[in-house]
Amino acid sequence: MDLGISGKRALVCAASKGLGYACAQALAQAGAHLVIVARNDAPLRAAAEQLRSLGPISVEAVAADITTEQGRASALAAAAGLPGGAPGAFDILVTNAGGPPAGDFRDWDEAAWLQALGANMLTPIALMRETLDGMMSRGWGRICNITSTAVKAPSPYLGLSNGARSGLTGFVAGLARQVAGSGVTINNLLPGTFDTDRLRSNLVAGAGQAAMALDAYTAKRLDGIPARRFGRAEEFGAACAFLCSRQAAYITAQNLLIDGGAYPGTL
Ligand SMILES: NC(=O)c1ccc[n+]([C@@H]2O[C@H](COP(=O)([O-])OP(=O)(O)OC[C@H]3O[C@@H](n4cnc5c(N)ncnc54)[C@H](OP(=O)(O)O)[C@@H]3O)[C@@H](O)[C@H]2O)c1
Repeated sequence: MDLGISGKRALVCAASKGLGYACAQALAQAGAHLVIVARNDAPLRAAAEQLRSLGPISVEAVAADITTEQGRASALAAAAGLPGGAPGAFDILVTNAGGPPAGDFRDWDEAAWLQALGANMLTPIALMRETLDGMMSRGWGRICNITSTAVKAPSPYLGLSNGARSGLTGFVAGLARQVAGSGVTINNLLPGTFDTDRLRSNLVAGAGQAAMALDAYTAKRLDGIPARRFGRAEEFGAACAFLCSRQAAYITAQNLLIDGGAYPGTL
């Protein structure tokens, strides 16, 4: 299917590996030009090289911490390096950052909360603030925020994530409707359990909390997924590219759970 986004300019945050990379890959396959961001330069450059091999697209790699003001400024400025681009002029924004650490609520002081809120709530809000007016003036835009299944079914040891991502979700519910008449859609993608480095470290933490061997804990986690497997990052990327497509113009203010059926509710 032609997603109708060939030549669009996309900013994909936290994209040298995992879910962010998979989104960048699917957008590249659909012909979008990319700015990708991650902190570590070498894996980011390798990711950019792989993406360039996918088609006649431009890819700018920005080595920066997207949770800092300076990092965001560098990422936004890089749009000028894309065909037809100017600073901040993105048609597609995929927000993402590392998730907060697992732990016990007793150990999270104000600094821990401010860090989680900064990375997983205020950073995507700041990026939307910087890109939305341009999208609206051009009459077309797609924003996807990578959040988590935690906003529907909280995980007891990921309280920082439950809280910060729920704050973002509430904000987006209002903003998406506020701008819906301008050709810009805003949706959230909620990953369940995807086989990435982040999942592997969460499994280790979860096994520790549950005082279980890693294999036994992993098997228990798989038991809770009707699909009987962890998700593949490219499956997540494909959903992201569809939400960014021309065909998805009437889908906005939604929270799309991608979890192999793990969430047990009817809706
Ligand atoms: N995988 C899952 O099952 C799952 C489930 C629910 C929610 N999530 C959430 O989805 C997000 C992505 O997870 P993932 O599994 O794809 O993680 P991952 O495989 O560990 O990849 C994380 C990516 O983000 C980059 N990154 C991290 N912090 C960054 C920052 N401050 N600035 C710029 N780039 C940054 C990393 O590169 P550098 O380290 O070089 O910066 C890397 O490219 C996380 O917020 C995670 O909590 C994942």
